[in-house]
Amino acid sequence: MPLHPMFLEPEIHSTIFLCINLIGSIIVRLLLHAWPLTIFWSCFYIILVGLINHSLAAGRYYLPTRNLRDQIVIVTGAATGIGRVCALRFAKLGTCVIIGVRGQERAERVAKELSDESHGGTVIGYDLDLSSLTNVKNFAEKIERVDILLNNASTVPTTYSVTADGIEKQFGTNYIGHFYLTQLLLSRLTNGRIINVSSLAHHMVPSTGIDYTFSKLRDKYSASAAYASSKLAQIYHASELTRRYGVKAYSLHPGTIMSTNINHNRSLIKRILFQLLSVIGKTVEQGSMTCIFCALSNDAVPGHFHSDCQVRKPSQLALDKHRAAECWNESEKLINEKLK
Ligand SMILES: NC(=O)c1ccc[n+]([C@@H]2O[C@H](COP(=O)([O-])OP(=O)(O)OC[C@H]3O[C@@H](n4cnc5c(N)ncnc54)[C@H](OP(=O)(O)O)[C@@H]3O)[C@@H](O)[C@H]2O)c1
Repeated sequence: MPLHPMFLEPEIHSTIFLCINLIGSIIVRLLLHAWPLTIFWSCFYIILVGLINHSLAAGRYYLPTRNLRDQIVIVTGAATGIGRVCALRFAKLGTCVIIGVRGQERAERVAKELSDESHGGTVIGYDLDLSSLTNVKNFAEKIERVDILLNNASTVPTTYSVTADGIEKQFGTNYIGHFYLTQLLLSRLTNGRIINVSSLAHHMVPSTGIDYTFSKLRDKYSASAAYASSKLAQIYHASELTRRYGVKAYSLHPGTIMSTNINHNRSLIKRILFQLLSVIGKTVEQGSMTCIFCALSNDAVPGHFHSDCQVRKPSQLALDKHRAAECWNESEKLINEKLK
C-alpha cells in the first residue's frame, strides 16, 4: 500500500523520531527498573536527540545565489512570518520587491526595514487588504509589471466573520482576494510565475468538497475547516491557472512553523501548545525555502503542489480537475456578484 503523502513531510519524521525516543526511554526505564545512564550520558543523549530532530525537522534547503536584478516580485502579507523572510531574500537577490501590507504607513515602514536589512535592496510598500475587493483593485492599479507573484497572506479568525464584501473571512481573504489579484495582474505577468502558499491542512477538507454556500460554517464555525477549504481552493487555483492559460503557477506547503503570527488569534492555552510544538517544526527561514524554490527553481513543476522543495502529491480531492474547474467558476461568480 502506498504511504500517505503526509508521511513524507519533515515535521512527521521529527515527530516519529521524538516519539520513538520517548517511548524507548520509558520502556528501558520500566524494564531495568532504573535509568541506565549517568547525568553526563543523559545530557549527551538529550543533545544528540535534539540535534538529529532539528536536522530532520529542517527539511531540504534551496539557496539560490544568482542575481535577479531585472525581476519584479510581489509578496503579499510581507509584514510578518514567511512573507517577510521571502521578501528579504528576494531583495538580497537584487529583485525589486513590492510588498502588499495592510495600511500604507505600515507598508512603507516594513519596506524601509527590509531595504535596510538587505543592505540597500529595492523594496516598495503598498497598502493591500485582501479582504476587500476594492482595496485589491487599488493595489493592482499601482503595478505596471510583475515577474513573480507570491500569494502568501493568510488570516485565521477564531469566530465566524466575513470580508468587506460579505464573503466568509478565510475563503474571502486567503483565496478570493488572491484569486482576484491574480486575475487583475495576469496581463502584466509575461512568462512569470504565480505561487500560492497553501498548506497540508487542505487534507482536512471532507470528500464532499468545499461548501460554497458556507452555511455549515455559519451554523457551527470551525477555524480549521474554514482554513482547510481556503487552502484547497489555492491548490485548485494554481492548477487551473496552468491548465487554462499555460501560466507557470505553483502551490505549496511551506512546512510547520510555529514562530509566525498565523496562530496569534488563538486562545493562550493553544498558543502555548503551538509554541511547544515548534520543536517538531521548521524555522521561518526554513519555511521560506519551498516558496523560493517554486519562484526560481527549474525543478518546480507548474500546476503541481510542492512541499520540502520538491513536488508532492496533494489530497485526492485536490487532484480532481472537475472540482478545480468548479472552484474557478464559483470564484468568478462570487466576485462578479460582489462587484455588481
Ligand atoms: N506557519 C505555518 O505553520 C504554516 C503552515 C502551512 C501554511 N502556512 C501558510 O503560510 C503563509 C504565511 O503564514 P505565516 O505562517 O507566515 O503567518 P503570518 O505571520 O500570520 O503571516 C500572514 C500574513 O498575512 C497577512 N494578512 C492577514 N490578513 C490579511 C489581509 N486581509 N490582507 C493582507 N494581508 C493580510 C498578515 O498581516 P497582518 O500583520 O496585517 O495581520 C501577515 O503578515 C500563509 O498562507 C499560511 O497559510 C503557514
